[in-house]
Amino acid sequence: MEGSASGQAGFVSRARRLLRLGASHGPLYAMALHRMTASAQYDPEANWRFWTAPRNGVLEGVLRGYPSAGHRGKLLDKMLRQGHAEGIEFHYDVSNDFYRFFLDQDYMLYTCARFLADDETLEQAQKNKVDFLIELLAPEAGHQILDLGFGWGGMMRCISEQIGTRDGLLGYTLSKQQLAFVRNLGFDVELQDFIEKNYAPESLDRIISIGSLEHVRPDELLHFYNKLFRALRPGGRMVAQFFSLDHEPIPPSMVWVQLFFPGSLLAMHNVHVAAVKQAGFIIKEDVTDSYKKTLRCWYDNLVNNRDKAIATSGIHIYNEYMTFFPMAWRFFHDGDSSLHRMLLIKP
Ligand SMILES: C[S@@+](CC[C@H](N)C(=O)[O-])C[C@H]1O[C@@H](n2cnc3c(N)ncnc32)[C@H](O)[C@@H]1O
Repeated sequence: MEGSASGQAGFVSRARRLLRLGASHGPLYAMALHRMTASAQYDPEANWRFWTAPRNGVLEGVLRGYPSAGHRGKLLDKMLRQGHAEGIEFHYDVSNDFYRFFLDQDYMLYTCARFLADDETLEQAQKNKVDFLIELLAPEAGHQILDLGFGWGGMMRCISEQIGTRDGLLGYTLSKQQLAFVRNLGFDVELQDFIEKNYAPESLDRIISIGSLEHVRPDELLHFYNKLFRALRPGGRMVAQFFSLDHEPIPPSMVWVQLFFPGSLLAMHNVHVAAVKQAGFIIKEDVTDSYKKTLRCWYDNLVNNRDKAIATSGIHIYNEYMTFFPMAWRFFHDGDSSLHRMLLIKP
């Protein structure tokens, strides 16, 4: 009797907390928190449909309307008080092995792939992306090349294969586990906040950034692009792949995304473009792509490796990614954001 009474009390207090969070942070935030902290395993197809299936108009209005536009700004100001390093460690320092269970087997790239045909594998699509970005970057032996946010080192490996040397290639991350992993591969990498870094003027020939500008907040962008512009030599190139917001106002997704990437806030694409131009860059290329297929591949890979993933990192981390991938798919599907690949040149 006592057990069932305390079980009931636990259920009621959890339900109250979720209702409170739903009211303050929006229903999607509360639902995501509820499902990612559950100890049950969800049926993969039902879970995917739960997050991605079309919703009726009233429900859609509620989910996309809360927290209200006025409240969103204040809430985000509070949520963004923490530093970048804590947020990056929270997301990326889960376990390198865990990421192996869903990323492509060749490069472990944790960024949008480039699918050129429906039947391509994730591995092929990641190779397409790498080839496309390397062509834009045009790296050469003897260049000083910086990888901003190198992840598990896939792009550093590809660049070094292309130019036939690792000399001159340097990478920064804020994840200690990534640092250990890529140092072990023999690359020159540092635990360094690339936003805070004071770069020596005209010290770099090439800068590559894949999936890391998403972590630079809108009010940091201009200063950051200015620094990178000064760090490049004349004629130097920066190649960036990132996603940004397509239109005002800031969508409610920027609140629930704090569950997965605490401390990060996307900028509007026109804010990127204005900052890049103000810094002095010439935009030579800006092409868009869809992130949806990559997210579905990661989801399917994780499901296929479910037992190993849970044994490695536990049910809560597994459920976090089972929640994150379909929510991110829906975010792109709803047209809040687009993925860009840009070539910026310092004249
Ligand atoms: C989505 S991952 C992308 C990794 C890799 N470029 C790839 O394509 O797989 C983002 C990377 O940016 C790094 N990062 C984010 N903010 C950073 C900062 N302020 N300073 C240094 N690294 C940062 C993370 O540590 C991580 O390596």
